[in-house]
Amino acid sequence: MEENLRVQKFIQINNSLENKSVIVSGWIEDIRLIGSLMFVILRDSSGVLQLVVKKNKIDTELWNNIQKIPRQSIIIANGILCTNTQNKNLELQVTKIQLIGKAVHPLPLDPTGRVDSGLDIKLDYRPLELRKPETRAVFKIRHHTLNHIRQFFNENNFLEINTPKILSQGAEGGATLFQLKYFDKYGYLAQSPQLYKEQLMLAFERVYEISNYFRAEKSHTTRHLNEFLSVDFEWAFQDNNTTMDLCEKLIKFIINLLQKDCNNELDLLNSNLNEFPSKFPRITYNECIDTLNQLGNKKKYGDDITEHDLSILGQKFDSFYFITDWPKDIKPFYIASYDDSSLSQSFDLQFGNIELSSGGVRIHNRLQLEKSLLESGLELKNFSSHLQTFDWGMPPHSGLGLGFDRLMMVLCNRKNIREVILYPRDQDRLDP
Ligand code: AMO
Repeated sequence: MEENLRVQKFIQINNSLENKSVIVSGWIEDIRLIGSLMFVILRDSSGVLQLVVKKNKIDTELWNNIQKIPRQSIIIANGILCTNTQNKNLELQVTKIQLIGKAVHPLPLDPTGRVDSGLDIKLDYRPLELRKPETRAVFKIRHHTLNHIRQFFNENNFLEINTPKILSQGAEGGATLFQLKYFDKYGYLAQSPQLYKEQLMLAFERVYEISNYFRAEKSHTTRHLNEFLSVDFEWAFQDNNTTMDLCEKLIKFIINLLQKDCNNELDLLNSNLNEFPSKFPRITYNECIDTLNQLGNKKKYGDDITEHDLSILGQKFDSFYFITDWPKDIKPFYIASYDDSSLSQSFDLQFGNIELSSGGVRIHNRLQLEKSLLESGLELKNFSSHLQTFDWGMPPHSGLGLGFDRLMMVLCNRKNIREVILYPRDQDRLDP
């Protein structure tokens, strides 16, 4: 076991180690026998290394045993790093190989990716499938994106918060609430941090949260899950436009940094992040309805914009764009209207037909909020602890929720949200 501690990751192997004795460990991807030479292609979490075993340099029993090791087993190998005279890559001239974890065949899928499997199989056997370079690239990009988001908010003086995930009521509509028994009463899994992030305007003025949320959505689509990661922020004394500006700045900040630190991964996924508009178009809801009508899709002002409508709009706007000023009636109770208008100070960020984010200006006056709750058919008594905070000097505020997994679909050029989540949860999937 001590040897494990001294194992060299492949990414750290460079010319300074030439002719040095090293220990490596990885999963066997392939073994090729050419006369008295054996080539073992080994993969670790950071890359690939070729091992060369010479028949006359190791004992016969070991030579015979290596050939019998099943592909995808994990081994530890000792040897000397030498430069391959033909391709100039460093390779390990093996002196010793130990099998430390045998892969039992047949494996449920081929982690080299040479034989493709359907998405369900991939998700059923996720940890094994994660050995595939493309899949690992997705999760490396995910990791870096999360870091960049934190960096962005920290640099802009936002405070990271962690709000409860078991609540006494929902903020995003009763139809998608997961109910659970909470001792002698019922609780609900949080659909968003909406109420808390607003309450925290009283003390912090700028907050963000990155967390999982739960929606009992029955939709079977490529972009809905029952548990998803959301990036939420809320800031005081800001309006719809400055909130969209910050959102746009965040997306560009992420793309700019990913192009530096995940270039190889983006290439591997054929994700071209250069083709995005320098300024994201802002189109009003009414303009969208007009466009839909012009494109032959009959809509009335006040109608919701459906997935089908978005797929039509997505043909015209195929990158990032905002849809602004939605009718108040189809937005949640906390969204503020324009004075004397049925339109709200709200927006959605779209990428083609995918809704990535929604946000807007919030009602910060208690009486107006109570009126809006009642108009939405909600009971004031269920929101009393929230409503009381509006009596303690609530500043005007705005914010948004960004569906992180949907953003990952865009950044990683994946068609199904399940591809960018380690263990997705949908109606049919509660395990693994
Ligand atoms: P909304 O309900 O629009 O707004 O959610 C915000 C964003 O979260 C993502 N999202 C989902 N992603 C995957 N699966 C789902 N089932 C799912 N539901 C939502 C979407 C969506 O745009 N409180 C407001 C935000 C705010 O105003 O601050 C809210 O939750 O990308």
